[in-house]
Amino acid sequence: EVRGIQRALGIGVEPKLTVNALEVLRRRYLLRDESGEIIETPAQMFRRVARAIAAADGAYGDDPKKAEEEFYLMMSGLEFMPNSPTLFNAGTGTGLAMSACYVLPVEDSLESIFTTVKNMALIEQSGGGVGFDFSRLRPAGDMVRSTKGVASGPVSFMRAFDTATEIIKSGGKRRGAMMAILRVDHPDIMEFIASKAKHGVLTNFNISVAVTDEFMRAVEDGRDYELVNPRTGKSVKRLSARHVWSQMAENAWKGGDPGVVFIDEINRHNPTPHVGRIEATNPCGEQPLLPYESCNLGSINLSRMCKNGDVDWEKLRRTIGAAVHFLDNVIDVNPYPLKEIDAMTKANRKIGLGVMGFAEMLIKLGIPYDSKDALALGERIARFLEDEAARASEELAGRRGAFPNYQGSIWKSPRRNATVTTIAPTGTISIIAGCSSGIEPLFAVAFMRHVLGGERLFEINPLFERVAKERGFYSSSLLDKVVRQGTLDGIKEVPEDVKRLFVTAHEIAPEWHVRMQAAFQKYTENAVSKTVNLPRSATPADIEGIYSLAYRLKCKGVTVYRYGSKGEQVLNLGLGE
Ligand code: CDP
Repeated sequence: EVRGIQRALGIGVEPKLTVNALEVLRRRYLLRDESGEIIETPAQMFRRVARAIAAADGAYGDDPKKAEEEFYLMMSGLEFMPNSPTLFNAGTGTGLAMSACYVLPVEDSLESIFTTVKNMALIEQSGGGVGFDFSRLRPAGDMVRSTKGVASGPVSFMRAFDTATEIIKSGGKRRGAMMAILRVDHPDIMEFIASKAKHGVLTNFNISVAVTDEFMRAVEDGRDYELVNPRTGKSVKRLSARHVWSQMAENAWKGGDPGVVFIDEINRHNPTPHVGRIEATNPCGEQPLLPYESCNLGSINLSRMCKNGDVDWEKLRRTIGAAVHFLDNVIDVNPYPLKEIDAMTKANRKIGLGVMGFAEMLIKLGIPYDSKDALALGERIARFLEDEAARASEELAGRRGAFPNYQGSIWKSPRRNATVTTIAPTGTISIIAGCSSGIEPLFAVAFMRHVLGGERLFEINPLFERVAKERGFYSSSLLDKVVRQGTLDGIKEVPEDVKRLFVTAHEIAPEWHVRMQAAFQKYTENAVSKTVNLPRSATPADIEGIYSLAYRLKCKGVTVYRYGSKGEQVLNLGLGE
């Protein structure tokens, strides 16, 4: 047993990394000295992270050495990855925080707005992303008493956040990402909806409209609804709900923004309503948070949770237990950028455990992504993850205490964490783990990946390569064809069942994307990051249909991407740039 021997000798087990994973690690993750030389191997990186996170165990009388070994093995075995800021910063002594997700409050005063710009800068330095609800800001043209002038409104102030983010670029590691949310009943809603329509503006923001149940009923009934000035609480105008709804779809059709956040559905699942209402999410929408709350995410690689063409439930159970332990420890050792964030995060102790490599699990089990069986498996995985993670959190509470805001929360038995599950996009950590992102279908069967500095790397799905060899239709001319189009569509030498199994994102009908998101959402405490891919020929009306379906299926939000509709996305660029 090589691993055992290596462990006994204290040598790191070198993880089986792909060329792309190594490239990403070398460029952004591995520690460097002052002259910029890389001073750790990937195994040493996982060791650094495992040790730093396991150290929290000491305070509870548990053995940090034991936890370190467990954490190290699941990371170097590419079975579990924490979100990028934990890999960047744990055990480096830089004092930089380890969470991917934050929400900061924006109150209606210059003092609050620019304090928040500063706090955002501190967060972005660590590689974290921040969400804001701008709905408290008085609308453009409203009165400003002190200067007898007129207010600029939320969209103007968003530019200040955008410019600051542009300048920070988190030390070259990754560009900061932000989420701007505006309630659908804010007087500036039309300007907000179109705020990203021009090319190259507000590029560091994803934007989402927070729609209410009341608004959705008005859309259904074809009624008008009221816009309310947040400063006075008075209704200032009425708009046709259907008009606003169609403008949202129209802009999303053009460029992907805005997305939609179903804010009442989010609050129906707020675990700590006694602490406050949730108004915003992190940049990719998967993590609703209270103001000043942060959350660290981690994802289990489902591709490595299979055995003999089935799910290895035992291994999955063990990995979930260790991952909850890991993520809970991060809360203790994390050096928070602000004392308010420290206090809020430790009072709720939210963690977000999710999955990646779901598309590969489906392939290994012989199930096409766009099928009823795939939805059933998705729901089953989500439920198992939820049950086991909650159980692990309850066990931790028994030994370490419940989260401080537990009294008054929605939970019936004490647990360590106000939430335990979140499905993240896993843009970069899935590259490190060498698997498909989150719960997305394959993006392509083979493609050229553009990496920083203009280099191109050839990437072929290893499962496809294996099947092609086993079934005897592998050839270099076949590969040429697959790389050229990315899909297996129309390629004669590939058998039909293989084509079905290796179906890619843009070949899957939009409804299946929404249904898969909903299948996971059903048993996920936080939210689910999922892109609903649409063909280039989709219409704005199709997008309205997708939004309505997502609402009916109780999703917490929805984002669409129409093929070819935008050059560059803030997030989900292959390398999380
Ligand atoms: O794979 P990785 O851990 O790098 O991140 P992800 O799962 O793609 O994204 C998770 C969250 O990290 C996002 O929702 C953002 O809150 C944050 N993020 C960010 O702030 N900036 C990025 N460039 C990428 C992610």
